[in-house]
Amino acid sequence: MKTVIKNISKLVQNDDNMIKFRAGNDMNHLNTISNAFIEIEDGLITDYGDMDDWKGIDDWNQTKIIDAEEGILFPSYCDSHTHLVYAESRENEFNDRLNGLSYQEIAEKGGGILNSALKIAEINEDLLYEKSLERLNNLILQGTGAIEIKSGYGLNLESELKILRVIKKLKENSPVSIKSTFLGAHALPIDYREKKSEYIDLIINKMLPAIKSENLADYIDVFCEKGYFNVEDTIKILEAGQKIGLKGKTHVNQFNSIGGVKASIENKCISVDHLEIMNEEDFLAFKDSSCIATLLPSCSFFLGIPYSPAKEFIKRNIPFNLASDYNPGSSPSGNMNFVSSLGSIKLKLNAEQVINATTINGAYAMEYENELGTISVGKKANFFITKPIPSYQYLHYSFGENLIDKIFLEGKQIK
Ligand code: NIG
Ligand code: FE
Repeated sequence: MKTVIKNISKLVQNDDNMIKFRAGNDMNHLNTISNAFIEIEDGLITDYGDMDDWKGIDDWNQTKIIDAEEGILFPSYCDSHTHLVYAESRENEFNDRLNGLSYQEIAEKGGGILNSALKIAEINEDLLYEKSLERLNNLILQGTGAIEIKSGYGLNLESELKILRVIKKLKENSPVSIKSTFLGAHALPIDYREKKSEYIDLIINKMLPAIKSENLADYIDVFCEKGYFNVEDTIKILEAGQKIGLKGKTHVNQFNSIGGVKASIENKCISVDHLEIMNEEDFLAFKDSSCIATLLPSCSFFLGIPYSPAKEFIKRNIPFNLASDYNPGSSPSGNMNFVSSLGSIKLKLNAEQVINATTINGAYAMEYENELGTISVGKKANFFITKPIPSYQYLHYSFGENLIDKIFLEGKQIK
């Protein structure tokens, strides 16, 4: 069965050159087709173009026609950094912050990641799956079509595996494309407060082999930060991950620049994420690498910390993408429309730069650039169509509104 969608007022981000990502000045480039159609079959895009060039229907019995009603078609958002498998929200800590405590002070009192770890230990896998699926379904309605999900709220063998098994089940049951990341090195669990090297040994000698035997992760992550894991720890964990085929993605430079960017890039990480605090050495580390910077503006928004210097990345021709960091502590929203609006309002990116950063560049950060991120023949039919809006710029300009009218994932209409 073929599906043809017609009356698309504008089709955005079409590209058949199979680009990997857009960086620097090229981020201003965005292809569009006015008055367009798109054709899909077996979950893939098979044709698209100007309505005037549409060849028509050869077999009416085998073709479904959908009217886009003059909406604008965008490729689905590719959100390359989330922690959406968690047990409980943490609005109590949010309240503590409103009453004057800092995010770090809350963490030092045993709140934050350790609080989430206590909750994960208590919840059973089925309920954790249900809660996570509900969150994921909510994100689908906000336009997300590919997502990376991390563990990291377990901090012991059993609980880390519990989270990773939930992610695996989401992969098996959701139409969203999902990558799974093992983040055992997210914080030091309470029992290991004075025994960091023993916890790192536990990650390397117990958790990684178990993950490998059940094939539970695509990537490995480390929170490289003062008070968490230092550069030496980060390298050791990344190397151990690499040995079982897990490429790196790291949390670096959220609060301090301690050399994590350079170490991650030298250790062949796919992406380095956060980068709110950047110095010259951090920028220079990207030279001649294929690593992408993942910027998380809703974390800056929610915690009131500095925004990443996105414009500086453009100036230096360093590729970056925007992701949500969806988690209960520093970004309790995975709404990529809002992330896009922050990209413009706070990072000062224009609409073309934002769209590139949330689609093809996000896909690259998950190694999905050959399957997702642009409207291209042969790629997955993951896209959304808005209500009639005046322009593609309008989507992110009208922040806080949900303008998405129709959603297609793997060729199936979800909404
Ligand atoms: O990406 N910075 C480390 N990890 C998460 C937040 C974790 C939490 O507060 O639960 C982040 O912001
Ligand atoms: Fe994160």
